[in-house]
Amino acid sequence: MARIGILTGGGDCPGLNPVIRAVVRKALIEGYEIVGIKNGWKGLVENDTMALNIDAVSGILPKGGTILGTSRTNPYKKEGDLAKVKDNFKKLGLDALIAVGGEDTLGVAFKLTKDGIPGIVGVPKTIDNDLSATDYTFGFDTALNVATECIDRLHTTAESHHRIIVAEVMGRHAGWIATEAGIAGGADVILIPEIPIDLDEVCAVIKKRHSRGKTFSIVVVAEGAQFNDGSMVTQEKKLDAFGHVRLGGIGEELAAQIEKRTGFETRVSVLGHIQRGGSPTAFDRVLGTRLGVKAVELVKAKKFGKMVALSGIKIIEVPLEDAVKELKTVDMELYNIAKVFFG
Ligand code: F6P
Repeated sequence: MARIGILTGGGDCPGLNPVIRAVVRKALIEGYEIVGIKNGWKGLVENDTMALNIDAVSGILPKGGTILGTSRTNPYKKEGDLAKVKDNFKKLGLDALIAVGGEDTLGVAFKLTKDGIPGIVGVPKTIDNDLSATDYTFGFDTALNVATECIDRLHTTAESHHRIIVAEVMGRHAGWIATEAGIAGGADVILIPEIPIDLDEVCAVIKKRHSRGKTFSIVVVAEGAQFNDGSMVTQEKKLDAFGHVRLGGIGEELAAQIEKRTGFETRVSVLGHIQRGGSPTAFDRVLGTRLGVKAVELVKAKKFGKMVALSGIKIIEVPLEDAVKELKTVDMELYNIAKVFFG
C-alpha cells in the first residue's frame, strides 16, 4: 500500500486541522496509508511520527492549531539535517509528502524537490496571506475576524475616554491583516509595511479628524511597518532559522510619537498571538478542506513539485516555485479604498 506523509510547519494557524482531516479522509478513500510527521521538518529530521487514521482526525475540524505540532526548523540550516531528512524519508517508506506551510516551509519543500526528494505537494497556510500564487491562504480569514472584533472593542473604549488607540496587528512584512481589518473595523488611519510611515502625515490626519468634532481615533499598524527614516521596531535582533527577525513593538513607539505630536492621550493594544489562536472561521474550514482533498488528488495523479491554491472560486495546482519566489504584498487598489476613510 502506498504511503503518504503529512507535516505542518512554521507558525500555526486556524485551518490546519481541517486540512489534516481532509487529507486523511481522502487518502483513506483512495487506499493510501497516511503517517503524520510531528512538528514540521523537525519530525522528518528526528523521525518523529504519529499514526493517522479516521479516529485520529475525528472531531478536529473546529479546533485551532495543529494536532501534528509545528516548528520553525529549517533542515537546510544545520549540517547533517538534510541527510537525516533524506534518510528518514526512505526509512518511513514515503511515496509522497504533503507539506502544509507558509513561505519558509514551502521554500524547503521546493528545495527538497530540486534536491531529488520525490513526491512533494505543498498546501499554503498563513494568517499573513502573503503567499504568491494563491488568492487567499487559510488562517487569514480567522485572524482578520479576530482583529476586526478587537478593533470594534477598542472603538467603544477609545470613544468613551476621548483617546487615540493604536492597534498593532501581525502580518510580518505584508499589511493584509492591517488593511482588511482596518477597513472592516473602520480605522481612521492604517499603516502597513508596504508604505513607510510619515508621522507628520499621520498626525495631520488625526488633527483634521479631531477638528471636525471627533474626540477619538483608531490607528491600525502592521507589526512590520517602518518609519520613513528606515527604522523598524523589532522585539529582538536575533534571526530565526529562516533569517527572520521577531517583529513587534512598533505600536508602542507610534503611540508615544502621536501623543507627543498631537497632545491627544494615546494608548496601544498589541493583538499578538490572539489573532492566530482559536477556532477557524467557516471560510477557513472550507478552504482548508478543499485544499486537503485536492492535495491527495495531486498525489494520486503523481503531480509533484506542485502547490494547491485558490484562484477565484476554484482550487487549482501551481508550481511550488511560483508560491515562494516573491511575497504577495498588499494590492494598492485595496489600500486606496481604505484611504478614503482616513481622518
Ligand atoms: O507568520 C505568522 C506570524 O504570526 C507573523 O504574523 C508573526 O510575525 C510571526 O508569525 C510570529 O511568530 P512567533 O509565533 O514565532 O512569535
